[in-house]
Amino acid sequence: MPMATTSRTEIAGHGARLTDPVRQSMLLTALYLAQERHGYLTPEAIEEVASRLDLPLGHVFSTATFYSLFRTQPSGRFVIQVCDGLSCYLRDGADKVADYIGGKLGIRPGETSADGRVTLERVQCLASCGTAPALRVNDALYENLTPTSLDALLERLGEN
Ligand code: FES
Repeated sequence: MPMATTSRTEIAGHGARLTDPVRQSMLLTALYLAQERHGYLTPEAIEEVASRLDLPLGHVFSTATFYSLFRTQPSGRFVIQVCDGLSCYLRDGADKVADYIGGKLGIRPGETSADGRVTLERVQCLASCGTAPALRVNDALYENLTPTSLDALLERLGEN
């Protein structure tokens, strides 16, 4: 799917006359804009970002697949990213949180609920180790998770 006109304009308005370091620094923002338009990064959107910023396609693709912020597959309306890091594991998170949510929704990490509402993922450290266990839902971080707070979160997602 090609990028929407607005995304192309936002990026193309800068691309051609910028130096390599500046184009490089725009990459994450350009990928984020493309993802916002489509819900995930299609191969065509990644190619277009590479073209507009005049960066190697391989580099743009590896950036898009490296960061947990980006998705290259269609997802549910809510993407729950459960932290898989050591601090979360040691504070009763990681496996337990992913299993708890997966059990409630009837899905495993990497899957989307039957109603298309929620995608469950496991990701590396969310940089919230001091308040582990943590997870992220779309752009919002949730910390100090307990079964009670997870139940409340899932209930809120069901209402929205
Ligand atoms: S290990 Fe989970 S937030 Fe860092």
